[in-house]
Amino acid sequence: MNIGIIGAGGLGSNVARALARKGIPAIISNSRGPASLASLVAELGPSIKAGTTAEAASADIVVVAVRWSDLGKVLGNLPAWNGRIVIDGTNPVEFLDPESPDAKDPSNPLAAYGIKAIDLGGKYSSEVFRELVPGARVVKALNHLDVRVLAEPEVSGGQRVQFYSGDDAAAKAEVRKILEAIGYFPVDLGVLDVGGRLAELPFGVLAATNFIKI
Ligand SMILES: NC(=O)c1ccc[n+]([C@@H]2O[C@H](COP(=O)([O-])OP(=O)(O)OC[C@H]3O[C@@H](n4cnc5c(N)ncnc54)[C@H](OP(=O)(O)O)[C@@H]3O)[C@@H](O)[C@H]2O)c1
Repeated sequence: MNIGIIGAGGLGSNVARALARKGIPAIISNSRGPASLASLVAELGPSIKAGTTAEAASADIVVVAVRWSDLGKVLGNLPAWNGRIVIDGTNPVEFLDPESPDAKDPSNPLAAYGIKAIDLGGKYSSEVFRELVPGARVVKALNHLDVRVLAEPEVSGGQRVQFYSGDDAAAKAEVRKILEAIGYFPVDLGVLDVGGRLAELPFGVLAATNFIKI
């Protein structure tokens, strides 16, 4: 199974970094094209190649690592999914300009983190996400840890717990294999209706939970 990553910022680059540490091949992409990723792929070594978004999106397993506000634009122009696996690494948050009024809004409990929750009208984020990738098998994963720790799965003599959830058992099994190969301790939270809610930021009860399995 080959892996594509859409988005090469905080999340996408650190997923690529974690894959690169184990020599697992992947194609990574951003909005500006492969040339803009030259220094990242040079740092990460030969297993990670820069590609176009269309190339990354045609992999067997596609990690979506873009901001919630960009999802519609990114996912609206891709080839048919035809049962391929999509890892939803996103969270429904808006990244705030530190100079914006929102960043200093006392009614925003997340202002200190530079983010604001996006109102999904009572839906959880993977419920909205899966409507944007018709025909894909969605697995929610890689979204609940801060990227500063995400790229270090093996720490303190143990393995960092990586939660995942999804409605297709075979897709989850494939994603689990990758999470294990990276070095995480994967924990299956069940179907999206359950696990998606539990692990989504900012308000899922397991959001940002950083367990180490010793
Ligand atoms: N930051 C975290 O700690 C963290 C942890 C877990 C999950 N997440 C979630 O991960 C997602 C990404 O967050 P981030 O921190 O990685 O954001 P980020 O640093 O802003 O990176 C976003 C990436 O998306 C790319 N992008 C935007 N539009 C695109 C398009 N049309 N086609 C292809 N790529 C496009 C950007 O490309 P350019 O570089 O060319 O602009 C950039 O590489 C968000 O949903 C966030 O909530 C973040």
